[in-house]
Amino acid sequence: MLQVNKLTKAFGPNVAVDAANFVVEKPAMIGIIGRSGAGKSTLLRMLNRLTEETSGQIIFDGTDVTALKNGDKRRWQSECAMIFQQFNLVPRMDVVSNVLHGTLNRRSTLATMFNLFPNEDIHRAIDILDRLGIAEHAAKRAEALSGGQQQRVAIARALMQDPKIILADEPIASLDPMNAQVVMQSLRQIHEEDGRMVIANLHTLDTARRYCDRVIGMRDGRIVFDGTPAQLTTGVARDIYGADATFSEAATSTEIETLDRTDAEVGRKTPEYA
Ligand SMILES: Nc1ncnc2c1ncn2[C@@H]1O[C@H](COP(=O)(O)OP(=O)(O)OP(=O)(O)O)[C@@H](O)[C@H]1O
Ligand SMILES: [Mg+2]
Repeated sequence: MLQVNKLTKAFGPNVAVDAANFVVEKPAMIGIIGRSGAGKSTLLRMLNRLTEETSGQIIFDGTDVTALKNGDKRRWQSECAMIFQQFNLVPRMDVVSNVLHGTLNRRSTLATMFNLFPNEDIHRAIDILDRLGIAEHAAKRAEALSGGQQQRVAIARALMQDPKIILADEPIASLDPMNAQVVMQSLRQIHEEDGRMVIANLHTLDTARRYCDRVIGMRDGRIVFDGTPAQLTTGVARDIYGADATFSEAATSTEIETLDRTDAEVGRKTPEYA
């Protein structure tokens, strides 16, 4: 269903993504891992067409996504909803309105200006919030929620678009372990129950192993690993994270993660519990 052919992005002389090739036959939950600067976000942004590729192709269900323009391109962007590390909610707006913003692409400017939403959409938004376990917060301002709850609001907003693919760029990098788990479980549930494809950039090997069916490892813009979590051996991890990553078989990924990036780099905040 999704076919990525020699997808490349160069920023001047710097090749951020170098001829990435992969095929997804049926909806899967895929984790993309790699050091900072490996090209994970650039790859995700090209899939969503937020970033224009330098060369290569993206084919989805027989359509050349890279050739889409204007309205067709916007339609594609709503079919592959994006979730970000920093949630990107409107902080002072209530939760349900934030979720309803997921329908903006199919509403008139006037309705948008006056914040007019059809009842049917409001009910759907509440149902989605309920499914994610946060319906009780529907009337609160987004900023009043914990990080994990806010990320679930962002997932709800994405689901409002009824996307075929959910692209998540480090969705749990700003969350404490407990909230991170809830958010990853929500994404997993959406994948399993709705059959939506989920592609998530993750900065820990453990998370990718635990929640994903397939892991893609990037290094210096290239895909250096593409396989199941079980195939992700220490040797492979060293390929992805670099030979200077010194860790023992037993120490596993936590150590690699520490080597790879500091808390400051990933913008992790002080733990806040839901
Ligand atoms: N808009 C841009 N202009 C110039 N260079 C860019 C731009 N965006 C990314 N790059 C460069 O492309 C490379 C890949 O960046 P990218 O953000 O995709 O990496 P990443 O794997 O997502 O890293 P991180 O884990 O830190 O988020 C880096 O060398 C980065 O500096
Ligand atoms: Mg990134």
